Amino acid sequence: MCTEWTEMARWPDIENVRRDFPLLKNAGIAYLDNSATSQKPLCVLEKEKEYYENYNANPFRGLYGISVKATDAYEEARAAAAEFIHAAPEEIIFTRNASESLNLAAYSLGELLIREGDEIITSVAEHHSNLLPWQQLAARKGASVRYMEPEADGSFDPEKLREMMNDKVRIVSLTAMSNLFGTLNDVKTLAKIAHESGSVYIADGAQSVPHTVTDVKELDVDMIAFSGHKMLGPMGIGVLYGKKELLEKMPPFLTGGEMITTVTLEKTVYAPVPHKFEAGTVNAGGAIAFAEALRYLTKTGLKRIEEREKMLTTLAVEGIKKIPNVLLIGSERPEDHHGIVTFKIEGVHPHDVSSIFSDENIAVRAGHHCAQPLHRFLGIPSTTRASFMFYNTEEEVERFLHVLASIRGRMGYADENLL
Ligand SMILES: Cc1ncc(COP(=O)(O)O)c(C=O)c1O
Repeated sequence: MCTEWTEMARWPDIENVRRDFPLLKNAGIAYLDNSATSQKPLCVLEKEKEYYENYNANPFRGLYGISVKATDAYEEARAAAAEFIHAAPEEIIFTRNASESLNLAAYSLGELLIREGDEIITSVAEHHSNLLPWQQLAARKGASVRYMEPEADGSFDPEKLREMMNDKVRIVSLTAMSNLFGTLNDVKTLAKIAHESGSVYIADGAQSVPHTVTDVKELDVDMIAFSGHKMLGPMGIGVLYGKKELLEKMPPFLTGGEMITTVTLEKTVYAPVPHKFEAGTVNAGGAIAFAEALRYLTKTGLKRIEEREKMLTTLAVEGIKKIPNVLLIGSERPEDHHGIVTFKIEGVHPHDVSSIFSDENIAVRAGHHCAQPLHRFLGIPSTTRASFMFYNTEEEVERFLHVLASIRGRMGYADENLL
């Protein structure tokens, strides 16, 4: 069971909400690595267990009761994912994660659209998952990848994209929210500019979909990729949304069981979308539990979640700005960070920073965050990142700031501890 939201206008006691997440108590840490993966509420864990204990059977394949039940529940999960982003169920492809979604998009769209000499635009601010698939596609087809650069606040300037567009650009694929900056990009305007030049527009929504309202119709993106595990769902389930008319034209990515209508030795007719893109046994338990996570997020309310995460982020950003020799990456404005606060401490390696936090039972992430080109662009080899979810508390942020302010001192520098 998870929190019942009887009073819809206000947050219930945060300690009640935190009780929904067993790990927060069991691990005994301040978990500030939510951009890497979120924690899972009990109702999500129970939903997956319930599936395996009561109706685990291969969906789509059996005509007996529990297989039909598994199929129905899997398709209901698809409908829930569709509703969450204002899409139609047949526009939702279940994958393993955002990385697989972007690989699917790059492979299949590449087969459909990319010829020698064509161009693909992505950016230096991408997670490797929205970079390597395009590099591979370009190498396979003799096409080229061009890279947009972010502004100092981490956003993309739509006018820069307009200047980069030409009639060779077939695909533009940009992050909706960078995992380093936390800036929410103007996806609607960027997509419009790509469309005006006849290109398709893909958004990497791995960081944006868990934390902000996503309406694919309003944004008019052709595709968006995201992962269940970053939004209270289990690992191993992700989504690729695609406009139906585009998905229908795209060839399959993986082939094999269950994605066909007929197979003869001479010719195969593929199943209608989205099943054409879901070869082999699907992750039914994962999808069903993911739908429960979406219910939890919807019940809590994305707007309310955004508000609370903004409060926590503001506390962190304003606190960091007061600590000498700590450089905040990206915008100075707390409202641009959406729960993601990346920083560099002068003279201290991020691995040392992370170890010190770990000694204090605080989990933060250190390294290049799968964004090496962005670090190179910023002229910094690596950084440390704290990332918040609505279940974090002001007290955890205060603890984080207190430890942060002490790190240079612990490493032998003679700064004054300002906190
Ligand atoms: C912006 C962004 N895109 C893509 C991914 C890849 O997600 P996954 O590892 O779930 O495939 C991540 C993961 O951190 C991310 O932050």
